[in-house]
Amino acid sequence: MSSIDQRYSCSAEAHEASDDRPLNPSAAATLGDIIQARFSRRDLLRGALAASTLGGLAAGPLALLADTVTVPESERETTKTRFDFQEITHGVDETHHVAPGYRSDILIRWGDPVLPGAPAFDPDRQSVEAQTRQFGYNNDYVGYVPLPLGSKSSEHGLLCINHEYTNAEVMFPASGAPTREHVEIEMACNGGSILEIRKDAGRWSIVADSRYARRITALDTEIALSGPAAGHDRMKTSADPSGTRVIGTLNNCAGGITPWGTYLMAEENFHGYFSGDLNRHPDATVADGVAEHPEKRNYARYGVPAGHFVWGRFHRRFDVNAEPNEANRFGWIVEVDPLDPASMPIKRTALGRFKHEGAESIVNADGRLVLYSGDDQRFEYLYRFVTDGKVDPSHRAANRNLLDAGTLSVARFEADGTLAWLPLIFGQPGLTPENGFHSQADVLIETRRAADLLGATPMDRPEDVEPNPHNGRLYVMLTNNKERAAEQVDSANPRAANLWGHLLELTPPAGDHTAQRFGWEVLVKAGNPRDPATAALWNPATGENGWFACPDNCALDHQGRLWVATDQGQAWHSASGSADGLWALETEGSGRGTGRMFFRVPVGAELCGPCFTPDGRTLFLAVQHPATDGTLDYPGFARPSTFEDPATRWPDFDPAIPPRPSVVVVTREDGGPIGG
Ligand code: FEO
Ligand code: CA
Ligand code: CA
Repeated sequence: MSSIDQRYSCSAEAHEASDDRPLNPSAAATLGDIIQARFSRRDLLRGALAASTLGGLAAGPLALLADTVTVPESERETTKTRFDFQEITHGVDETHHVAPGYRSDILIRWGDPVLPGAPAFDPDRQSVEAQTRQFGYNNDYVGYVPLPLGSKSSEHGLLCINHEYTNAEVMFPASGAPTREHVEIEMACNGGSILEIRKDAGRWSIVADSRYARRITALDTEIALSGPAAGHDRMKTSADPSGTRVIGTLNNCAGGITPWGTYLMAEENFHGYFSGDLNRHPDATVADGVAEHPEKRNYARYGVPAGHFVWGRFHRRFDVNAEPNEANRFGWIVEVDPLDPASMPIKRTALGRFKHEGAESIVNADGRLVLYSGDDQRFEYLYRFVTDGKVDPSHRAANRNLLDAGTLSVARFEADGTLAWLPLIFGQPGLTPENGFHSQADVLIETRRAADLLGATPMDRPEDVEPNPHNGRLYVMLTNNKERAAEQVDSANPRAANLWGHLLELTPPAGDHTAQRFGWEVLVKAGNPRDPATAALWNPATGENGWFACPDNCALDHQGRLWVATDQGQAWHSASGSADGLWALETEGSGRGTGRMFFRVPVGAELCGPCFTPDGRTLFLAVQHPATDGTLDYPGFARPSTFEDPATRWPDFDPAIPPRPSVVVVTREDGGPIGG
């Protein structure tokens, strides 16, 4: 991990690479019971087994290890998928690409006006005041709430968009040490934006001066804390002696929309914003000459303080020496009511504190809401939250505090193809005072350490988790884990030095998402199936461009078909040699495990957001940090991007405008459903 680049107010590269550094001390110890041979029976593609009985396809499970199989074009046609579009090719260049027959329009870019009266983007006249009213940086999660609420309108709705972090090196001219103004512009670039959008004559636009338009930032949005950890002593600061109010939300990665139309923002890599030395605080005790602050063990488990950003230089609450509890107030799921721009967002502590990737949910048959969330770091865990109460579909207000009471559990994958959900409840064996847990608040503030004690399975960076209401199963994106050693391989994380990631499919028994035990299997092992070194696993019908590396975000369309977006980060060149993008991935029938490439991002970007309207005829995509990742490996450029000299100026391609993260709207030229 590199140190802070003094020219800028952060080291975005170090920040983005922070998932590379495992912080779980229990990773090796908890795996011994399920280590087994790589080619376990759970590695088989269930649907592809059916495919193997079809004429023209190699029969037998080992033939499904796609590194040994190349299926001729003519034979691929016998393997059916539900997708019907012409795939694009792998590659890397300065712009984006979409499948033939589709339109891709820019809906909004960093710096475009969101609130009424906001100024137009001017890279030479950026200001804090302007940025708090303009679209933030690094658009990540995109959620769509139809208007009127409760309708299935696919032509009028609210778009809820997260802003994850900032890349100062391409945002500001090189100008010496970071300034307070730069830091505060970056704080205003985190958070979220809410836009009212409408489709007229087949084209989407943002409704001007909408009463719903809203910016939520790390700088100035007051947010309530609720649930078991709210008001606890460990949540109190000098600015908030009640422990119930916090200014701002940050590093808002993926998220979710609840059935009652609220917007969930996941706080992910919160550790990077804190700096300082906890042991210099007066509360630190000194024993044998070694200082020890009461929060030291807690913070070490999350990597706080990482000091990737210098916010603490200008806002002392981000300096743990000045304000040792502030970092306990980040790492939560934030609930926002997009229909009421005056409502205060709420951090729901019952859902646990970790580096939440997202918060997708499904209403269980008994009416309770079940949310899934990955903790995105190497060797971290997969979580589930089940509400105590039931969703009331007819009285929206009755669901207002549903997320404050329920059971948070963590997954332990077994080698027999089942997984157990282990409840994180104070007083359960291990979650007791002798281990430093004195209440449920302690369990939630230190969710990771509580999960360690229960024997959860350390995973290869759990990113998006998406329940599929069409078949009751859920899909887990595991992005990569180059740190997994051979002796740490287990059936659910089946490759050492996993540069490419994999997808798991989880099956609740009889569709009961509250069940204590699920089934699971590997759906795809990503990477190039034609390179034996990857030991990739795809349906052999997957074509030259149909495979990908590093699954991150995903979405299900109106038919319940899976679409997967990738984030290879700096390692794109070694992971696939192609830019990130979006792939259709068949999960059913003879085509199960077949990928097809639909969209590609410009150099240095990752793809986030994928979000469909209810009719499946519009796809919103969030292109994050164009020009930044891995540009040393970009042929013909081969240097770091700067504001003055970026690898691309997507999407404006104006020499006076830097590259800008943007939301792209994809529609079919004939107006039909995306993907056929
Ligand atoms: Fe923000 Fe895990 O991606
Ligand atoms: Ca992500
Ligand atoms: Ca990611």
